Amino acid sequence: MPEPPRRRLSIEDFRPDTLDGILGQPRAIARLERILAGVRHGTVMPPHMLFHGPPGVGKTAAARAFGRAALGSFYEANFNELKAFDNRDHSVLPEIIMKSRGPPPGGAPFRIMFFDELESLSPSAQHDLRPAMEGEGGWSVFILACNDLHGISAALLSRLTVLEFPPVAPADVRRILESALARTPFALEPPALDAIVERAAGIPREAIKLLLEEGGALPPAS
Ligand SMILES: Nc1ncnc2c1ncn2[C@@H]1O[C@H](COP(=O)(O)OP(=O)(O)OP(=O)(O)O)[C@@H](O)[C@H]1O
Ligand SMILES: [Mg+2]
Repeated sequence: MPEPPRRRLSIEDFRPDTLDGILGQPRAIARLERILAGVRHGTVMPPHMLFHGPPGVGKTAAARAFGRAALGSFYEANFNELKAFDNRDHSVLPEIIMKSRGPPPGGAPFRIMFFDELESLSPSAQHDLRPAMEGEGGWSVFILACNDLHGISAALLSRLTVLEFPPVAPADVRRILESALARTPFALEPPALDAIVERAAGIPREAIKLLLEEGGALPPAS
């Protein structure tokens, strides 16, 4: 019998599930942990938040990890992900706004609406988000993400807890790379890792892409 094909590695295999796994973002993660402490005490809702920073530094990973920690077993049914890109035909936003009203399914304490690529929403669509974030029984927490704060309206910003995700220090890119490497069969030597850290220029996604490119090009160990 031929062996079943082994599943191949892709960048998705390295997404951290927990806030502990997001390295090199100490300020944002400490703030999220503090917010989580409040959520666990059961007295407060998490605030609406905006994560901003360059592509590939952990914003989506942090939103999902926060969602998992805050919602626990309610995560699957109550963490909703949407990209502004999906709103090109202008039909999705009203749907989201409808969906964010009323109690969340399954008896969850709240739902999370994770809305990526905020900057590609027009100013009027950004304006439409505001009522969804206010009132309506307070059942929905918005986590918004963007690469650049420029173009985000002041009215929206003032309703959000803004967390910056800057590029990651080289030592932390190296830690991310080493922990990713440990989950691969690749035998990459330290100088090859140093070169990847340098080329990644503070962007963990880039480092993992390069790891897969360099490691994948090596003949498999038998
Ligand atoms: N700070 C980090 N610590 C550990 N891994 C990271 C970190 N940042 C990024 N990664 C790795 O890179 C992948 C991509 O990161 P992520 O999708 O969170 O980036 P992003 O900031 O949301 O980018 P974009 O602005 O393009 O949406 C993650 O799945 C993870 O494997
Ligand atoms: Mg993202």
